Amino acid sequence: MKVKIAPSILSADFSCIGEEIKNISAFDVDYIHLDVMDGSFVNNITFGPKFIADARKYTDKPFDTHLMIEKPWKYIERFAKAGSNIITVHYEACKNKVKETLFLIKSFGCKCGLVIKPDTKVSKIKKYIPLCDMVLVMSVYPGFGGQAFIESTLNKINEVRKIVDASGKDIEIEIDGGVNRDNIKKIKEAGANVIVAGNSVFSAKDRGETIDYFKNC
Ligand code: DX5
Ligand code: ZN
Repeated sequence: MKVKIAPSILSADFSCIGEEIKNISAFDVDYIHLDVMDGSFVNNITFGPKFIADARKYTDKPFDTHLMIEKPWKYIERFAKAGSNIITVHYEACKNKVKETLFLIKSFGCKCGLVIKPDTKVSKIKKYIPLCDMVLVMSVYPGFGGQAFIESTLNKINEVRKIVDASGKDIEIEIDGGVNRDNIKKIKEAGANVIVAGNSVFSAKDRGETIDYFKNC
């Protein structure tokens, strides 16, 4: 089954990020996944809107911006104007502002998505899924690239797939964390159609071959 591939630049070399983005965009990738971390919602710090605006000059691929930040609604406008095409926010960070934040993302012309951490049940976001263009299921605890895939996530993907299919809406299901050659087939079978891959793509000897394998296997 063919899926979309979203390389996460978290595993790229930030000292030459323009070249890295150009390099990865030359392969059969669908989105560029951008991991924004604030040192509070997660235990790591990455980059903000300026970095994304600068990166925008190096590729025409859609930017899939994954906000791992507190109070995401405060920054949506800036991440949208920096050139994001999809913006996903964590359910756990939105508190009682889930709907409002999703609508805010849409108001700036971006596709919107909700993300759940490995310990958050799908039932928590069920009622919001029809409002989303994308649901992102984390298969590692957010914060770092290169972690091991949490197997129990496969059931959650399956659960989201059933809800999405029943809704009859065109909602993407993305998986993020620990994807590799050993688990990619199971992930697809479970029902994900957008695959984030950081370490497995950027550290591959042949990035293009790895992307093609993930996409077409
Ligand atoms: C983790 C990030 C991921 C990460 C995935 O918090 O959201 O996007 O870059 O990296 P890998 O594929 O190396 O697990
Ligand atoms: Zn991510």
